[in-house]
Amino acid sequence: MELAYSVNPGIEDIAAEEVVAEMGGTTTYRMMTGYVFHKPAYFSENAVMRLRSINRAYILLWRGRISDKLDDLLGVKERILREIKGLEDYITPATSFAVSAERIGTHEFTSMDIARVIGDVIITYIEQFYGRRPPVDLRKPHVVIFAFQRFEELIIGVSLTGTRSMHRRGYRVYDHPAALKPTLAYAMLRLSGTRDHDVIIDPMCGGGTIPIEAALIHEDAEIKGLDKNPHHVMGAKLNALAAGVRDRVFFGVWDARRLHELSEEFDHIISNPPYGIRYGNPTVVRRLYREFLMSASKCLTSRGRITIITTEYNYVNKIIDGLGLRIVHERTVYHGSLYPHIIVLERE
Ligand SMILES: C[S@@+](CC[C@H](N)C(=O)[O-])C[C@H]1O[C@@H](n2cnc3c(N)ncnc32)[C@H](O)[C@@H]1O
Repeated sequence: MELAYSVNPGIEDIAAEEVVAEMGGTTTYRMMTGYVFHKPAYFSENAVMRLRSINRAYILLWRGRISDKLDDLLGVKERILREIKGLEDYITPATSFAVSAERIGTHEFTSMDIARVIGDVIITYIEQFYGRRPPVDLRKPHVVIFAFQRFEELIIGVSLTGTRSMHRRGYRVYDHPAALKPTLAYAMLRLSGTRDHDVIIDPMCGGGTIPIEAALIHEDAEIKGLDKNPHHVMGAKLNALAAGVRDRVFFGVWDARRLHELSEEFDHIISNPPYGIRYGNPTVVRRLYREFLMSASKCLTSRGRITIITTEYNYVNKIIDGLGLRIVHERTVYHGSLYPHIIVLERE
């Protein structure tokens, strides 16, 4: 059995590590492609549901090259029918199904065309196998088949996560206008190297995504979330309540530029500050970055780290020398149509 996971581009390695930690086996992936392939040592749907870095999970049925031409898509039906295996284990004439199709790149065909072609393949396969056609139900199917055309590659799988992406956590009862994807919050915690018993703070926590994800993976960490806006702090408390971790995270109103005035030390200061590009005024945001980093650098433990996600990589790189900080890791990820950096800093 091979599983395929769609992930946020830029965190494929973190997802690969997580799936192997849960189910053993081996993975293959290329960074920034948004996909990880996994041959698990053992398979458990519960383990898949526990994963925190992935968007969707599928049992891989077929994977192959198809060009951007409509004729190529129409002509691939016979090949898929010959090569696809095991579909009868998931779909029978008594099992309704729907095809959910997505596409990245420029093609002569639409996602609807892909869904139609793959739907035809499935009906023909099941009819050949059982002598009867399976019912199509677009509203409440028993089984969702996912077809994803990424440039010139088509991936077909049985969805283990329905039509819903797992980055949509059930706890988002308060929707912050610039919320971070929980999968990226998880990746930031991993890159910062958080452990149980650590002291972790997000001083610009908005709706609380980073502290909540921290509380969900570390039962014994001391976790705080601060924001200058009381409305967001109230929202973060509601989200934490919905996530079942309200009693394990302290939330409060505070200015991140005055973090050192709390006279506390933190193992991990992890944050998603406002992006200049979204704020409208990069000068104001850059002043915030400088004052926040200056304050944060004064309250790290000896092995403490500051981990931020930002579009202001060049600016941060320029000022950290003067603040006695150095970059120990940086990478580009995809987030909300932008390519911000995750930067991990330590004291020099
Ligand atoms: C991009 S949002 C964070 C979103 C959050 N990660 C989430 O998932 O909901 C940035 C947050 O920084 C807060 N902020 C901006 N300047 C601040 C300051 N000086 N001190 C504390 N919070 C600040 C804003 O109120 C906003 O909620």
